[in-house]
Amino acid sequence: MSSQIKNICCIGAGYVGGPTMAVFADKCPFLTINVVDLNEERIKAWNSDDLNKLPVFEPGLDVIIEKCRNKNLFFSTEVEKYISLADIVFISVNTPTKTKGIGAGKASDLKWVEACARQVAKYSSGYTIVVEKSTLPVKTAEVIKTILEASPKNQEKASFDVLSNPEFLAEGSAINDLENPDRVLIGGENPIAISLLSEVYKNWVPEKKILHTNIWSSELAKLTANAFLAQRVSSINSISAICEATGADVREVSRAIGSDTRIGPKFLDSGPGFGGSCFKKDILNLVYLCQYFGLPEVANFWEGVVILNEWHQHRISKLIVKKLFGTISSKKIAILGFAFKANTNDTRESAAITICKDLIEEGALLLIHDPKVNPTQIAKDLGIDENKNNLMKSKNPNSPDGEWSFTDSIVNALNGADAAIVLTEWEEYGKLDWGELSKLMRRPSWIFDARSTLSPKKLKEAGLNYWRIGDGS
Ligand code: UDX
Ligand code: ADP
Repeated sequence: MSSQIKNICCIGAGYVGGPTMAVFADKCPFLTINVVDLNEERIKAWNSDDLNKLPVFEPGLDVIIEKCRNKNLFFSTEVEKYISLADIVFISVNTPTKTKGIGAGKASDLKWVEACARQVAKYSSGYTIVVEKSTLPVKTAEVIKTILEASPKNQEKASFDVLSNPEFLAEGSAINDLENPDRVLIGGENPIAISLLSEVYKNWVPEKKILHTNIWSSELAKLTANAFLAQRVSSINSISAICEATGADVREVSRAIGSDTRIGPKFLDSGPGFGGSCFKKDILNLVYLCQYFGLPEVANFWEGVVILNEWHQHRISKLIVKKLFGTISSKKIAILGFAFKANTNDTRESAAITICKDLIEEGALLLIHDPKVNPTQIAKDLGIDENKNNLMKSKNPNSPDGEWSFTDSIVNALNGADAAIVLTEWEEYGKLDWGELSKLMRRPSWIFDARSTLSPKKLKEAGLNYWRIGDGS
């Protein structure tokens, strides 16, 4: 148990801050952990009695929240108060890609990180370790340090160390990833600060898995890990297109190359294109860094991963239109899954956003189903209001654009539909009875499986036309 660290404050109660601090609280009952956020709604949701209303859905998270909340884990909007009590402050705020100004479209917008650093400088007391948890461009720690040193302080004696401790959790498996991490990476200059943070992790992580590096290596390792993972997905997605053209099967290719121990079997599932809050953002960050440091060839190499991903998503929309006789205007299409992957309610950068937008632009009437994503989020992502009436009856016949509506019933989604498109690999989609469902659809009916979750045999038996990602047969 760590003797000096008693109180932790995490700024940012999002997908990273919430689950990470829940596991810290569970594994270190002697620590008091306050997760703070400016967003009152979010904090209210974290404090909700109804565990289904937590702002983040992660398998196993509700159990930990129930166990630790209001014992040693607290959610609050009182940012200043809890910074002042903390021995360690984690910065876990959002760092979206800049939309304007220098580096627009690539560099991360650090205004929230900077605001945090100023708040920490102003309100902390005594010695405080400031830990970067959010994925940040390399050298952000230096920015944080400069702000901490230059800003007016609460106390003469306030002093700081800055550490980089990137989070490698993947959504949908966050609790397991946090409880059994492949490694914990701590980058920093002061060995005392590194050792204090390591002591906290040692409560549940074997010492040999806790890696110490310099601060820049730690920041760059996080960007590189995500770039490598995304690159694997773009690589296999590029091969899926060749498979479809040549008669090969991408699942067989994946199996064959994944058995090479140097390549390994993970992250070789071809899908509708990678999404999530990290991959695109982190690669673009890397691209920006390379350009900044005069390495255009390296920048182009990594940018290709993102370009391929975008091309791949549009490729799927186009082939759907083509298969449906070149027009989907006023055709009803069921969208099965909107989250960027299964077991999460997160839709950030989901391939479903691009594909649904393309289909709506072509005039389709989309019935969108997802077991965890709500229609308000979908409306925000698509930038188009939901038509809550019966789409087939209420569509404006003079408008060339399509429309969309949400449904929590798969039967409703498929009733009268010309096609269904599986975009998220939710387990329940793999269990559907297509023999029965196919009777509801308008003939000829098509199923597009962008996640390889359905049984080709059952679809064929049900008399459905069928396309599956990377299946050239
Ligand atoms: C990723 C990293 O895995 C994690 O370490 C980091 O901390 C944050 O970014 P996450 O975005 O939650 O995690 O999900 P991940 O499981 O990596 O999937 C990212 C995207 O790639 C998803 O859209 C997923 O569907 C897609 N993917 C993944 C594939 O299409 N095929 C695969 O084989 C694996
Ligand atoms: P991530 O996936 O990195 O966790 P999220 O967007 O889910 O990102 O969460 C980041 C959270 O940080 C948001 O809830 C946002 O309100 C919060 N936040 C941003 N800036 C501040 C700040 N200065 N003080 C407190 N909370 C902040």
